[in-house]
Amino acid sequence: MLQQDKLVIALPKGRILDEAMPLVRAAGIEPEAAFDDPHSRLLRFTTNHPHIDIIRVRSFDVATFVAFGAAHLGIAGNDVLMEFSYPEIYAPLDLGIGGCRLSVAEPDDIAATDDPGRWSHVRIATKYPEITRRHFARRGVQAECVKLNGAMELAPTLGLCSRIVDLVSSGATLKANGLKEVEVIAQVTSRLIVNRAALKTRPDEMAGWVEAFRRARGAQA
Ligand code: PRP
Repeated sequence: MLQQDKLVIALPKGRILDEAMPLVRAAGIEPEAAFDDPHSRLLRFTTNHPHIDIIRVRSFDVATFVAFGAAHLGIAGNDVLMEFSYPEIYAPLDLGIGGCRLSVAEPDDIAATDDPGRWSHVRIATKYPEITRRHFARRGVQAECVKLNGAMELAPTLGLCSRIVDLVSSGATLKANGLKEVEVIAQVTSRLIVNRAALKTRPDEMAGWVEAFRRARGAQA
């Protein structure tokens, strides 16, 4: 089989992968042994289906690979989908995993005089500049976003910004770094995503896998 004829599924590295793999396996897809080998540097894996490969990439990059058709299916949070708004991506199924929220947080000891109701401008550290700008623009506040890729809980105490917008799950990271959650922008879960063009060019195959994930999700609910 030609490489370009293979169906490619993009999975996110990190915490979500542990929740995603039981669903992937329940859908009938089993990656080669190297997938579970922590020493392996492989990024693309064969599976028990000769025509299906899995790639493992950063959560934001899952959406990019699927949007550009480099992967046909993927698992991505609605935080990532909201940030990019790719028209090429269709998200037919909420997988009910990776539950958390996208929130605004501020230092515990922020001055009482710093009243958000009086702001016209705020500087925010975040991985989500588009969502953040849209969110604050709705209330007439201009958000100047400083793009960070992790550890943004450090930014307010070091004077990089006055607030952050980030994912919050247990709240432990905020608490450990002297911050408090002040506003929820969106509830987040992971979705099965598909490339719209692939839905047209490989309709039966794509519909079959969406259905397999739907059954796997139903069996775990
Ligand atoms: C996420 C997020 C927070 C943390 C929140 O980071 O960016 O830092 O989890 O979780 P909590 O509320 O349960 O403490 P993650 O650990 O996924 O790593 P990242 O910074 O590389 O995104």
